[in-house]
Amino acid sequence: MPKHIGIIMDGNGRWAKKRMLPRTAGHVAGSENFKTIARYCNRIGVKYLTVYAFSTENWKRPKEEVDAIMDLLRKYLKDSTNFKEENIKLRFIGKLSELPEDIRELMAKAEEDSKEATGLTVNMAVNYGGREEILHAVKSIGEDIKNGKLNPDELTEDDISERIYTALQDEPDFIIRPSGEYRLSNFLVWQSAYAEFWFSDVLWPDFSTKDLDRAIDAFNKRDRRFGGIKVEKI
Ligand code: IPE
Ligand code: IPE
Ligand code: MG
Repeated sequence: MPKHIGIIMDGNGRWAKKRMLPRTAGHVAGSENFKTIARYCNRIGVKYLTVYAFSTENWKRPKEEVDAIMDLLRKYLKDSTNFKEENIKLRFIGKLSELPEDIRELMAKAEEDSKEATGLTVNMAVNYGGREEILHAVKSIGEDIKNGKLNPDELTEDDISERIYTALQDEPDFIIRPSGEYRLSNFLVWQSAYAEFWFSDVLWPDFSTKDLDRAIDAFNKRDRRFGGIKVEKI
């Protein structure tokens, strides 16, 4: 079983278009599917699930669409108590300081309410960009150099890993992107150095637990060498 799955929840707009619905209807369907998939991951024993909900680039979209996504997030946060009952821990990653204040407060409350959960940890990436995340880590390193806590000659990769938003978690070992696009779109740039990838043409609102099972089966057949060579069993 992968320990940490990352999902780029893409294809909501095309799902809606196919049904002659407004794009926002696709986001509603996508957010419902997120709940189904998160519960399923919890049931099958995945430790971490990072979902890409809104990128640092998504502000380029029409204001009505951005507002609709933020409203959906508000609505979700207001009843995220469901997750507490299911023993799922919620965390939010990204440049949260740029989000509306009421959303930030709701996020803090959802994190607080679920902090004792021992099941799946869900990292929801909102106003998240992998490069922004690295920049944030670099700024923190700069501060620590300035105040004498770090020596620039002794910096290691761990100094960055300890400062990214998913610090202290196992690195994502499996990244899934539905919707027929074959790119990372600024998702988990640092963490995905040795992740396995799975691409599917299914649009996110249609991506089912069966699709996830199929992806995990494929993951389990991969030979992960991490630059080494396969050790043959004698
Ligand atoms: C992903 O679906 C959701 C967000 C980026 C917020 P899209 O809205 O990108 O759907 P497509 O790619 O246009 O189909
Ligand atoms: C990536 O999807 C971001 C999220 C799913 C939140 P996009 O639809 O924004 O990515 P591009 O623009 O196709 O690369
Ligand atoms: Mg898209």
